[in-house]
Amino acid sequence: MPLVDIREMAAEAARDKVGLGAFNVVLLEFAHAEVAAAESVGRPVILQLSENAIKYHGGHIAPLGKAMIALAEQASVPVAVHLDHAEDVDLCKAAVDVGFNSVMYDGSKLEDKENRETTAAVVEFCHANNVAVEAELGEVGGKDGVHDPSARTDPDDAAKFVADTGVDLLAVAVGSSHAMTTRGAVLDTDLISRIRDAVPVPLVLHGSSGVPDDGMVAAIEAGMTKINVSTHLNVGFTGVVREILAADEKVVDPRKYVGPGRDNVQAEVAHLLKLYARK
Ligand code: G3H
Ligand code: ZN
Repeated sequence: MPLVDIREMAAEAARDKVGLGAFNVVLLEFAHAEVAAAESVGRPVILQLSENAIKYHGGHIAPLGKAMIALAEQASVPVAVHLDHAEDVDLCKAAVDVGFNSVMYDGSKLEDKENRETTAAVVEFCHANNVAVEAELGEVGGKDGVHDPSARTDPDDAAKFVADTGVDLLAVAVGSSHAMTTRGAVLDTDLISRIRDAVPVPLVLHGSSGVPDDGMVAAIEAGMTKINVSTHLNVGFTGVVREILAADEKVVDPRKYVGPGRDNVQAEVAHLLKLYARK
């Protein structure tokens, strides 16, 4: 089916108080696994490609981005294709040109006034092209490899940020931290509820890999909607690949170890999608 608007998917999920899984694509196999998992459990899914992953893939969004769109279009469940953590405004425009239907402009490292102004300009451009925009307020730690779960988003400030910029989804800092390889993060569910009550758009949790399953269910019940997961899938993928290579030093065909890694990603995404939907 054609790409589905993330705003519709998120509004429906927020109304039903379920989570909407958004999974990063670091290799094409991850996109295959994420779509297959969504189909297996009958849930919508967001495939997301980060600015960092685009740099890894040679600095051009089109090769992997177009493949993600093609996979989304042949899926039997609703899929959105999203640009994740773009600090470069031109990359947001390139994503729109290639056919992504959602972008995250990440101005969280900028001084507040500049973040609001630049985010508003990205919103104007994207909305003119019917593309949704996510932004971040209160920088979620860990993007630089240093874990800092202490950042917090103020509910009133979040409401003002949405009014000032017109964003469709808002990423907030509530206790998670990017790139955690263990799942001990404790989220501030009371703060999630207070932000939920103050802000008129669906909320996004970044750095979800560090959050255990029961903590995630509580966060969704408190009002979190789009759940971003990357590192947790990498941990599973790499664990399987490592095991296969360690067991057989003669293996040379990448399909013999990347394939099982991909299957592990698929199984974990299916588990998480069911968890988020409380199925
Ligand atoms: O934007 C992507 C996510 O926030 C993923 O974070 O790698 O900690 O799961 P994570
Ligand atoms: Zn993130």
